[in-house]
Amino acid sequence: MVETEKIDFIKGQSTAQVDLFFNLKPISEVEREGHESLYLSGVTSEALYTSYQDLLEVMPWLYKQGARTWCDVGCGVGRSCLLWSWLTQERAIGIELVPERIEEARAACRSKNLSQIHWIEGDFSSPSRALPESDVYFLYLATGPQLDALLAKIKKRSTPSWVVVIESHGDLKPRLQWEAWWLAPTANRFSLKSFRHDPWVQVYKTRPDHPVFHLEDSWETKSGLLPQDLALHPNPLGYLLTKSFLKNWEIVIDERGEKWTMETIGLAWHDMNTVQGHLPPRQVSWSRENIGLRRIPEEGQYAQWSAWRREERLFSYLTHQGISGQRVKLRKIIISPYDELEFSDGVRVKWEDIKKWEELK
Ligand SMILES: C[S@@+](CC[C@H](N)C(=O)[O-])C[C@H]1O[C@@H](n2cnc3c(N)ncnc32)[C@H](O)[C@@H]1O
Repeated sequence: MVETEKIDFIKGQSTAQVDLFFNLKPISEVEREGHESLYLSGVTSEALYTSYQDLLEVMPWLYKQGARTWCDVGCGVGRSCLLWSWLTQERAIGIELVPERIEEARAACRSKNLSQIHWIEGDFSSPSRALPESDVYFLYLATGPQLDALLAKIKKRSTPSWVVVIESHGDLKPRLQWEAWWLAPTANRFSLKSFRHDPWVQVYKTRPDHPVFHLEDSWETKSGLLPQDLALHPNPLGYLLTKSFLKNWEIVIDERGEKWTMETIGLAWHDMNTVQGHLPPRQVSWSRENIGLRRIPEEGQYAQWSAWRREERLFSYLTHQGISGQRVKLRKIIISPYDELEFSDGVRVKWEDIKKWEELK
């Protein structure tokens, strides 16, 4: 049970007073040249770290639901882990990339003798780092490829967990809509006292028993998926997005009988029906086009074209018919009804018609 006296004690204190109670300095400035997503300077501790009051909104409820382990993925100075372990006497895990922050967390933890907290210094998105087992994952930060890597790890877990989310920039909750079939928003959301992009903490629950996991597993060994295969998925475009950092896949689009291909590299999204390709820079929507997926053929001329498209090489070319282009990039590769290339100057030629290529440095 979470003791009411403890809850009342925290409620009666300001954030600064609870920091003092945990002997914690909520350092926000870290002197280093670094990537800005780590918020190393110019951000206040109020913006960077979640307040105890806000954590109190959700922690007792989660404990009541049966949650025992709390994992803060990108834990900063570790406030949430300190509070969880102190309140519940249960295990907490904090993962943090910035050594100065986790050192501060460790020192506070030692001073309060909270031996059930495990601190991990490192990158939670790194492929070589397994996600620790936990009943709860707390996210207040993540965007882009790091978020995708984290979601892929949470998705692989075989036991259900809660995912507690505070919106950081306005793109996190919309991103999670793509995952709703396995990461289901619960009916519970909790109001935040701190000023945040969205005034609610949303709690999600994973569904590792969802039958679509078997479908996705069975697809992993395939060399391609037809539109009717993808249509079996509750979120086909979401599935395509999972391929968005992989070099060996491409999307095949059937547009009024013509089939062309698009790299999954750099794939982005606007809304639940539309993905934005980078190579070529086109939008495709599930309702309008027939979309399939295939592994990029490894042999022959096609592999060469697709590598050049991905590397955005500059060319000049000449066809047997005397058509020429200067300093162009490969835009579209068309595979049916004819094998054709479309260049950035808008010209389209059949593969077999190309007489001469010159790659420009
Ligand atoms: C906005 S702060 C939130 C801190 C804490 N979760 C809280 O709510 O108080 C995000 C933290 O995540 C850390 N972080 C960002 N990317 C990370 C990564 N890939 N691996 C580990 N930590 C990361 C940052 O250094 C920063 O301390």
